Amino acid sequence: MKVLVVGNGGREHALAWKLLQSKQIEQVVCAPGNGGTAGIKGCQNLPLAVDDFEGISQFAQNEGISLVVVGPEVPLAKGITDYLNSKGLKVFGPTRAGAQIEASKAWAKALMQEAGIPTAQAAVFTEAAAAKSYVKAQGAPIVVKADGLAAGKGVIVAETVEQAQAAIDAMFGGEFGSAGKFVVIEECLIGEEVSVLALTDGLTIRPLQPAQDHKRIGEGDTGENTGGMGAYAPAPIATKEVMARIQKEVLEKAIAALKAKGIDYRGVLYAGLMMTPQGDFKVLEFNCRFGDPETQVVLPLLETPLEELILACVEQRLAEMPPIAWKQGAAVTVVAASGGYPGAYEKGKVITGIEQAEALGTTVFHAGTNLNQEQLLTDGGRVLNVTAAGETFDQALAQAYAGIQCIHFEGMYYRRDIGHRVR
Ligand SMILES: Nc1ncnc2c1ncn2[C@@H]1O[C@H](COP(=O)(O)OP(=O)(O)O)[C@@H](O)[C@H]1O
Ligand SMILES: [Mg+2]
Repeated sequence: MKVLVVGNGGREHALAWKLLQSKQIEQVVCAPGNGGTAGIKGCQNLPLAVDDFEGISQFAQNEGISLVVVGPEVPLAKGITDYLNSKGLKVFGPTRAGAQIEASKAWAKALMQEAGIPTAQAAVFTEAAAAKSYVKAQGAPIVVKADGLAAGKGVIVAETVEQAQAAIDAMFGGEFGSAGKFVVIEECLIGEEVSVLALTDGLTIRPLQPAQDHKRIGEGDTGENTGGMGAYAPAPIATKEVMARIQKEVLEKAIAALKAKGIDYRGVLYAGLMMTPQGDFKVLEFNCRFGDPETQVVLPLLETPLEELILACVEQRLAEMPPIAWKQGAAVTVVAASGGYPGAYEKGKVITGIEQAEALGTTVFHAGTNLNQEQLLTDGGRVLNVTAAGETFDQALAQAYAGIQCIHFEGMYYRRDIGHRVR
């Protein structure tokens, strides 16, 4: 079987790596892929943009691709699945209608409210004056969210009413493009976040191991938000009891609500939840795809062949699959980032030490690299995900850190406290 993976981050490297562990998979093509996917045996990069639907479709049809797995949200929101399905291709990832659950926070909030899914109280606005007077009446802290996709930069957790009002002005002022045409203002929740990625065929939904990531750039979870500086799974805070409740109160309700809207959702439904200190939870958001970097710690623990689960979703027979099997233990990933990230940073720095890190038993997923005439260079803010799985969390953590210490590129930065909530 030949599979095409759409995307170029650490998530897609992990997907390609996991798929190629199965005997059923003879080849993986990554469009466009990165320096890491270029280096896996059996994997080939295809220099096409993630929204070049025609190019991807033609390649898939000509080369006998039997399954397309879409990594990022942008092509899903633009309708890659609708397009490829119309050409007779099998796609893992929701249609454009389903992707609204991530691509419009107002739409997702309405769905949660209709379905009775626990979430922060919220109101949606289409102009600044009403939004500002709402904020004034509610007081701070309060959360201001641009409706549309904003690459993780569209949410402001405002400590003061003035901050919230400035965020409202920025959003309606066009700073987030069309993402800011609607603004969602919601109650500020306090607690610990957890990511529950679930696989669904539109009828049945099954959670993967819960994960936690570290979004802030600085140690102690301080400083600016990033795409994620590290992650681990399973997240001890999401106990068996909590996961059973999330299944009933969030995942099954969401799938039923999507189905009631006539949406045939086949792919990943990812719930980002806030666990309250009382042991309750509320949904902060849904994503319509695998999380990055959560995927890099969930997939190493997965024992059931990934393509079997994905095909069961695409062919709508997930209910017939045996329970998902997991390795015992835990996985940890630590992100090596370019100096300056999430602000301005330089690219094109020579990367060394990956072989040494892997000789210690880690797997190094590439997030932002490219291969230039056999030389591996940095090509993004988040560069590498140094990942380890172990029988215990402590073993995995120690191994990931031993691995990252082997790696070098000019300006490299990583957090030294990944996993601090677990201890
Ligand atoms: N209601 C809320 N209360 C407190 N923090 C929130 C709330 N909503 C979002 N956040 C914080 O902002 C981050 C980003 O918000 P999220 O809704 O996940 O949007 P996105 O991932 O699209 O940027 C969350 O991970 C969380 O840290
Ligand atoms: Mg989020």
